[in-house]
Amino acid sequence: MRIPNFNTTEGSRLYRSTVGRQIAPRVAELLLDHIQRQLGEVAQSQCDILELGCGPGTLTIPLAQAFPFSRITATDPSEAMIELAREAAGARGLQNLTFAAVEAGKLGWAPSSFDVVVCNLAFPFFRRPYQTLRQVFKVVKPGGSVHFSVPGEHTWEEFLVIAAGVLGSAWSVAKPFLQKIQQAQQLPGALLHAGFRDLSEEHFRIPFSFPGSFEVLAFFAELFRLLDYAPHASRDILADAIDRQYPQGFQMHYEALVLAARRPALPPRHAALSARRPRAPESR
Ligand SMILES: C[S@@+](CC[C@H](N)C(=O)[O-])C[C@H]1O[C@@H](n2cnc3c(N)ncnc32)[C@H](O)[C@@H]1O
Repeated sequence: MRIPNFNTTEGSRLYRSTVGRQIAPRVAELLLDHIQRQLGEVAQSQCDILELGCGPGTLTIPLAQAFPFSRITATDPSEAMIELAREAAGARGLQNLTFAAVEAGKLGWAPSSFDVVVCNLAFPFFRRPYQTLRQVFKVVKPGGSVHFSVPGEHTWEEFLVIAAGVLGSAWSVAKPFLQKIQQAQQLPGALLHAGFRDLSEEHFRIPFSFPGSFEVLAFFAELFRLLDYAPHASRDILADAIDRQYPQGFQMHYEALVLAARRPALPPRHAALSARRPRAPESR
């Protein structure tokens, strides 16, 4: 099983035409809807928004369209991904977007630079997720908020239960995928550890329906080349098990979690003092 190499042109295009076409846009839609509900009028004024792990612009583009008065800085460590996102923004003539090739753990912006930070499905790929969120905390203004989507632990559960049951040790091919799901579950802890508060979490179940096992295996073959590395017989065993247990067709769910949290506002006295404090000449 392979997760595409996001750093190459080929890998980023493969991502865009597979997960970036079939799954990420559906999650991005839920995340954007959540951001619009939570921010309301705030983001319709001039707001500074940072996106982490923007990939080919799956969330970036609809976000920039939904908040035309906000300044959006979209980041990703992969130059190849940034190039795809930049192309998509250019094709739509979006002016409120800038891009930077940087990973979430190495943000170079001054403290308190952003009102809002957003991230669609990239958290499971962060190296050292706890340290990274401490970096993110610094660049959010006091009172500002963060909004993340990640896969939930029940993602593809219906399929995974069958596969683990019939494939035995051959099922280790799914390890890279399962590790990403595991890292995703660290998000609430990492947010609280970084200092964020008012954590909220929404769960969504996105259905994926298939007439039979052939289509199920084709779906995973396209997304992750799942089973390419397992013994050939495993596919037949898996296909038989799916068709036997679900003769009327198979449905599985992608579980999307949308988490939001806030950097605590400064206490009123502290806020008044910092508002009165003269700014350094170079920041004027
Ligand atoms: C599953 S893709 C999601 C892309 C995009 N947000 C979307 O919805 O299609 C994960 C993204 O995380 C990026 N990524 C990998 N390591 C990262 C890191 N340490 N910090 C930020 N982004 C990272 C990858 O380059 C990739 O674009």
